[in-house]
Amino acid sequence: MNLDQPLLDGMPRLIQAGMGIHVSSAQLANETSRRGALGVVSHVALRHIVVEEVRRGDATAIALAKEFPIPCYAEELLAFAPGGEWHKRPVPLDLPDPEKARLPKRLSTIAAFVEVKRAKLGHSGKVGINVMWKCSLTVLPSIYGAMLAGVDALLCGAGIPMELPDIVAKIRAGEDLCYSPLHGTGTPVALEIAADKSAGFLTQFAEPKLLPILSSFPIAKRLLDVWTREFGTRPFAFILENHTAGGHNAPPRNKTDYTDADELTGYFDKVHALGVPIYVAGAFPEGGSHNDFVYWRERGAYGLQVGSRFALCDESGMRRDIKDEVLAYNALGGELETAFGISPTGYPFKVLPLPGSAADPSVHAQRRRICNKGYLMQAETIEKDGEAELVYRCPAMPSRQYEKLGGDATEIGPRICLCNSLLSTAGFDSEKEAPLITLGISGKRITERHSARDVIEDILGQVEAV
Ligand SMILES: Cc1cc2nc3c(=O)[nH]c(=O)nc-3n(C[C@H](O)[C@H](O)[C@H](O)COP(=O)(O)O)c2cc1C
Repeated sequence: MNLDQPLLDGMPRLIQAGMGIHVSSAQLANETSRRGALGVVSHVALRHIVVEEVRRGDATAIALAKEFPIPCYAEELLAFAPGGEWHKRPVPLDLPDPEKARLPKRLSTIAAFVEVKRAKLGHSGKVGINVMWKCSLTVLPSIYGAMLAGVDALLCGAGIPMELPDIVAKIRAGEDLCYSPLHGTGTPVALEIAADKSAGFLTQFAEPKLLPILSSFPIAKRLLDVWTREFGTRPFAFILENHTAGGHNAPPRNKTDYTDADELTGYFDKVHALGVPIYVAGAFPEGGSHNDFVYWRERGAYGLQVGSRFALCDESGMRRDIKDEVLAYNALGGELETAFGISPTGYPFKVLPLPGSAADPSVHAQRRRICNKGYLMQAETIEKDGEAELVYRCPAMPSRQYEKLGGDATEIGPRICLCNSLLSTAGFDSEKEAPLITLGISGKRITERHSARDVIEDILGQVEAV
């Protein structure tokens, strides 16, 4: 294979992976994007992050909020700034009541706008946003806000982004959106944007590239069939993620343990034969190196998506003290676990069991359960006083609250609140909640401080900033 083939539509061959919460921050994505990778921000919990930044007077976030094309959204976000009317108000949560749901959705929209704009500041590189389908309540506002900021790519995983082409088409046409439920989630979602009259504004941007993140041939084939048949389109590329990658992983085929049938090396060629370009994501024999890049390019991949090495680099949004602890832990050969029961999503989740973290059994045992962010809540219809009622709940909630909302307490098990623990890892409310650290097995090799530029140059060779 000729490895010097031209780029498709200028899309980089290296993706700096989307990593929630705030690990792939705008600062990281800005740096990787200007150095020739696709810099990707994460949509998870952006409403909390950007409101808290505005609350503490972050000048860039405030300036970018003022650039939002629909003034009432900006006024609401800026009401949290010092001296603002809502400065002391908690960040609003997603709620089933359609009237009360509007404000959190607008805040999620402008938060995604601010984050993508910030990642794009000062260069001409490409920027994407990673949207987790399981955070269903913020999927539509995040895509809308990112598109208003001119995002170049939508990378969607942790679920099957079946409706993605329809979502993008409706947003570009300025139409209201409604999916009942969003595919694979059981959660009805809606977004009213017709009154914003934003379609004219959006025509200045090219359509974002669509990159579903998947982990099996049957799902890639099904998604391609549905997109072709129903929307007359194909993904720009598939991101094929192995179960050894960081963050959430697809469940094992046999439901109990990963076997050869789950290995990306086994199903890569079948997906490749579908004719859609492929980025390979984790874990790499060399942790995501130039050799890994050449190996996969020679097998026919378009490029790589690398996460763990970027998660631990200087510019990532992970707390500096935690990064240093991880490097020291790795140097001692510390273990990485695949935790099957802790994520409220039900998906396996990679965890570094660092002492003092939320994965430390003694910390976990003492934690007071609380659900006050709600990004992983899913909808259920329950019967209350003889009437059907839509509720939002998460198995990481306090058990009484979960049962009151019709949940079965036996589903709770060892679930950890990923919203609060991952926000803590990124330095938000760290005094209230212990952090939780996720990494792929590629990340276990990393024992020294390094920059995003080091990672990119190591993988792609010397690169000029744009
Ligand atoms: C700290 C961390 C957080 C992650 N969070 C997400 C996420 O929110 N959404 C997602 O699709 N993938 C997430 N991932 C997976 C990455 O996007 C990427 O596919 C993976 O890290 C690539 O493999 P590697 O870790 O071996 O480099 C995360 C990975 C890490 C290391």
